[in-house]
Amino acid sequence: MSILVTGGAGYIGSHMVLNLADAGESVVVLDNLVTGFDWLVDHRVRFVKGNVADTDLVAHLIAEYDIEAVIHFAGSVVVPESVVNPLKYYANNTAATRTLIETCVRGGVSHFIFSSTAAVYGMVGLEPVSEDNVLNPVSPYGKSKLMSEWMLADVAAAHPMTYGVLRYFNVAGADPQMRSGQSTAGATHLIKVAVQTALGLRDAMSVFGDDYPTPDGTCVRDYIHVTDLVAAHALVLDHLRKGGESVTMNCGYGRGFSVDAVVKTVKEVTGVDFAVEHGPRRAGDPASIVAGADRIRAMGWQPEYDDLERIVEMAYTWEKHLGTRNDRPSVF
Ligand code: UFG
Repeated sequence: MSILVTGGAGYIGSHMVLNLADAGESVVVLDNLVTGFDWLVDHRVRFVKGNVADTDLVAHLIAEYDIEAVIHFAGSVVVPESVVNPLKYYANNTAATRTLIETCVRGGVSHFIFSSTAAVYGMVGLEPVSEDNVLNPVSPYGKSKLMSEWMLADVAAAHPMTYGVLRYFNVAGADPQMRSGQSTAGATHLIKVAVQTALGLRDAMSVFGDDYPTPDGTCVRDYIHVTDLVAAHALVLDHLRKGGESVTMNCGYGRGFSVDAVVKTVKEVTGVDFAVEHGPRRAGDPASIVAGADRIRAMGWQPEYDDLERIVEMAYTWEKHLGTRNDRPSVF
């Protein structure tokens, strides 16, 4: 029996592969390498280049490797891009996922774990948001993921398949052993942008908005270390394998940091007082979004890296490591 990891050459998927390979699992990675890198895929697993919507290929992989569970990371993840090009998001996230789920049902796959997002909640208040909160995604990205959540619920009611939906908050950091990290070209995520600025890869960075109704006026987010995030997936997989019911889980620590606090931490960790401009708000940013994390903690999740300094340190170390690679992706 094996596990199929789609998007296993991407940021979070490659960390999932490390977790599974370290646990001795048999793993097959399927990734089209549009945003991923084959050198991020651990050498202990099998890598196949291809698309999740290629039914013949996926059906073949399910049969050949006796796939018991699919962990589906592949997709498009840039919120502002989804506003400009919504059809790309409905194709890559919703339609491709529908096709993949169908192939899994036909192939008798028992469990399906899906990368969802805090973006399914939309604009929320300053309090931690629980899984039972009203779902009101404002971006095509959030909607494209929520539609897939709905499909999974309906499919699991009609077919012998259980699922885990994990709603990610702000994923950051890198593998503590530096075997993988965020390597995407042109990344827009705050911690990545800040460490690149500290390294001189960018002249300056902007804080998008300082007039939000938050303690220091900048947006608050729940930054979760990628290694803790993939550990949550492993727990959910274990739960489903033991016959547990389908679950939907927020993945965050349940506490937030403001943009200014993150920038200050990056300056402290790197020792570089880089230039920071305070610019206008970025369209579509909620003032605050923090996970209500009771459900995943009740499942036994014990995060190891709930420490912003360590998260930043690892992101910084990875960024320096990337700089030593001659196939380093360009920054812009
Ligand atoms: N920010 C800046 N300057 C930058 C980059 C980001 O001030 O150069 C701010 C943003 O405005 C936001 C915060 O830092 O207030 C975090 O922004 P990110 O782009 O790092 O992350 P988001 O919160 O926008 O997005 C994340 C995930 C999405 C997910 C979303 C759900 O990356 O996939 O959370 O809330 F959909």
